[in-house]
Amino acid sequence: MEIDAAHIDIWYIEPEVVANAERLGRLERWLDDEELARANRFRFKEHRDLYVVSHALLRGALTQCAQSQTQQINPADWRFKNNAFGKPFVEQPDPYQNIAFNLSHTEGLAAVAVSQAGRSGIEYIGVDVEPLSRKGLDLALARQFFSTEEIAAAAAITGAEQAIRLLEYWTLKESFIKAVGQGLSIPLESFAFRLGSDTTSPVLIRNDVLSATSTNWQFWQFQPTTAHVTALTVGTTGTHRPNVSIKRADWLL
Ligand SMILES: CC(C)(COP(=O)(O)OP(=O)(O)OC[C@H]1O[C@@H](n2cnc3c(N)ncnc32)[C@H](O)[C@@H]1OP(=O)(O)O)[C@@H](O)C(=O)NCCC(=O)NCCS
Repeated sequence: MEIDAAHIDIWYIEPEVVANAERLGRLERWLDDEELARANRFRFKEHRDLYVVSHALLRGALTQCAQSQTQQINPADWRFKNNAFGKPFVEQPDPYQNIAFNLSHTEGLAAVAVSQAGRSGIEYIGVDVEPLSRKGLDLALARQFFSTEEIAAAAAITGAEQAIRLLEYWTLKESFIKAVGQGLSIPLESFAFRLGSDTTSPVLIRNDVLSATSTNWQFWQFQPTTAHVTALTVGTTGTHRPNVSIKRADWLL
């Protein structure tokens, strides 16, 4: 399987558009016993539905990826294994073990970023979604988690603009942590971002812990719905910038 240009798809879905009994029942049949057991441990239907939709979205996104290479893998056929920090990877089918992917879910939205199978040069992917309505993320909290550079940049603005800026830093930092896949063993203040604008991408301006690796880290920010922000981190073996498409997963409906 040889790939020309590196490409990443971000598939997203609002769980409420899937959440009727017939659709959920169909998606549940894609999940394995472990996922179903986790789904059934949620006390609230809303949380259970989000879990089912998110994991069906992940399985469906991997199936879409295989289909783009004319391979038919049923969503229920994917098998996963986790690293020591809980980050999932494909275990089966064998030819797809090198697909980089990551899942994020939050109130009102699930999103999966997935690379192509084959030699795309994409080693690491991390994605994070958060609602714009997220409460409690203020400068005081940022001072506990963010780098000095990020705190200074956020402190220079106020009001709604500052709240959005903090959320943008948060999702970027989460997406980076998730791409690396070692949880909070990478301290959140050990790396710092400068945010992008309409025409520029976010930039990692300091990276104390992972500076010795040859991975090239690249970042994107999106607003997939009017109510959510999303950040994507991709680690590549070369300096090429992958193409990224963000699309609603209407194939779940
Ligand atoms: C998984 C983790 C890395 C992110 O969790 P989160 O933001 O709450 O949740 P998300 O919805 O974005 O991602 C969850 C999914 O990521 C994947 N995941 C699990 N462990 C992971 C890891 N170590 N690395 C990457 N992805 C992971 C799983 O698919 C998981 O889905 P599941 O729980 O339904 O199986 C979390 O364990 C964590 O440590 N977060 C950091 C918390 C923090 O203090 N952040 C401050 C940010 S500035």
